[in-house]
Amino acid sequence: MTMPTFKKELPLLARIWLWLGRLLGKTVLILMVIGLLGWAIATAWFAWQHRGPVSALEQIPPGEATMTQDVIQTAVRIVDQHREPTRYLRDAHAKAHGCVKAEVKVLPELAQQLRQGVFSEPGKTWQAMIRLSNGNAYPQFDSLRDARGMAIKLFDVSGKPLLGERPAQGEQDFVMFSHANFFVSDVAEYRQNVAAQADGKKIMAFFPGWDPRTWQIRHLFIALATLAPPPDSPTQTTYFSVSPYKFGEANAKFRVMPDPDSCPAYTLPQQNHDLPNFLRSALSQQLSTDRVPACFVLQIQRQDANKYMPIEDTSIEWREQDSPFETVARFTLPAQDFDTPALNLACDNLSFNPWFGIEAHRPIGGINRLRKAVYEAVSDYRHSQNAAH
Ligand code: HEM
Repeated sequence: MTMPTFKKELPLLARIWLWLGRLLGKTVLILMVIGLLGWAIATAWFAWQHRGPVSALEQIPPGEATMTQDVIQTAVRIVDQHREPTRYLRDAHAKAHGCVKAEVKVLPELAQQLRQGVFSEPGKTWQAMIRLSNGNAYPQFDSLRDARGMAIKLFDVSGKPLLGERPAQGEQDFVMFSHANFFVSDVAEYRQNVAAQADGKKIMAFFPGWDPRTWQIRHLFIALATLAPPPDSPTQTTYFSVSPYKFGEANAKFRVMPDPDSCPAYTLPQQNHDLPNFLRSALSQQLSTDRVPACFVLQIQRQDANKYMPIEDTSIEWREQDSPFETVARFTLPAQDFDTPALNLACDNLSFNPWFGIEAHRPIGGINRLRKAVYEAVSDYRHSQNAAH
């Protein structure tokens, strides 16, 4: 005997509601599958495009010199836009937290193949000056998202300077900021991007046309990540060369990392991050008030051309699993009084340039070739304007 069923018909509205729910569920599922598939294809395509081996030599594209002249004009335009009533500032990294004296000591037990250029003599101590900065072209509040810069200048370096005719003889500069890769690949892209930014475009600088092939979405993400919240102090963040350099016969990038274990234990008192210049205050608190030195290591990462470690694309971070960083020197910022009007003016008048240095550390790659002309032009321009006013 079969039991009778009492299936009750649902009202029309409820059936439509359930149908809509099923439709929505299926649509979300399909979209998720398409998204995952897209992500997998994009990841596989990226890995395919970005695989070694790469060239260990520079490759200069045609038209780079003309593009460089365009960039110089834009950079000077930015310096004019951002000048202060009494001073012309740097085109980038305009605001300093201070210039501090440092002692850079080559590792006493440095391995033979790492003894290159200024690191040739294990145990040698170099006297140096370090300028710590915010990346922006305009001196803004330290609490705003930004890149943070570190520029090191070693003094009394012997060897033929790269820029023979320049006054910066006997110097070796290392110019870095606080992110491992750059928001553009090469000179052509830099020219387009920075011109758009000088015209007031920000995000749209990464979308130069309607053609989706020109969109630089990955580079936009690098730019957004570079503009990071501030560290508690300029002594508490890591700085990267971003672009490659010669290291004797090899090619290498370098970085500087805090090394608190080599200095007396120190806890920075809580700073008021609402103050416009709290990074300067933090540096001054440690070095001048509390008289505690700050310690760092200087490391290099040598190129393995069998891996994807390109020279001509600064948007690519060289992966540590492909080539680890190796410590070549340690340095200390001793306790000191750096925050005086005279020292701050001298700091502003200094010029750091990746091309102030010797052949063993020659900057390489398109972005560095561009920097050769631009740093010099901008530095000359601001110095001549400041001398005339
Ligand atoms: C590889 C990535 C880069 C890094 C790590 C970097 C880092 C820095 C740092 C730390 C400073 C401040 C130096 C100081 O304290 O005096 C600086 C200044 C400057 N940067 Fe860069 N920069 C990079 C790329 C570029 C590019 C591509 C350009 C333009 C072509 C550029 C143009 C400038 C200029 C004009 C100055 C001011 C020079 C002066 O007036 O003395 N930078 N940069």
